Amino acid sequence: MVIEDYSSLLLAQDILEEQTEELSTLLKKAALVAVVLVVMVVLSVVAVRYSQASEPYIREVLALHGDSTRGEAIFRMNCAVCHGLEANGEVGPKLLGVSDRKTKVGLIKQVIGGKTPPMPQFQPEARDMADLLDYLEKI
Ligand code: HEC
Repeated sequence: MVIEDYSSLLLAQDILEEQTEELSTLLKKAALVAVVLVVMVVLSVVAVRYSQASEPYIREVLALHGDSTRGEAIFRMNCAVCHGLEANGEVGPKLLGVSDRKTKVGLIKQVIGGKTPPMPQFQPEARDMADLLDYLEKI
């Protein structure tokens, strides 16, 4: 647009103002979308954590105080055949320091899940699982 007189200058100013307004509404919308996305991500992370910890069996195990001495005995009878008497690996991987790479919930799920054959699915009593967990966290 070529500015030839005062009235077209005013018109140009109007157009500019309108465009600035449109841009700022657009930016506000983008900011709103960004906030909504962040909230959704946070909520889904919380939901996953909550749903894992809210499984009744897992909650029951986590509420107990494990005894690693009993846990070691349980380990020797059920797990050592594959993971070794000292948990340093046979058919199954070495488990020393396993709690550095797996959470409590992850360890419980590994034992009761049966998702990684040939490791079988175990169904220990909550008390036994708590003891086993305490042992796995100490090695
Ligand atoms: C028949 C053999 C076998 C027996 C018995 C067994 N496991 Fe395993 N376990 C495995 C194998 C094989 C893997 C590796 C699975 C994979 O990741 O594909 C494994 C993986 C694991 C892992 C994950 C290790 C990691 O680094 O992520 C844990 C923890 C574990 N076993 C604990 C146990 C416990 C506790 C018991 C006893 C209650 C047990 N296992 C009994 C074979 C066995």
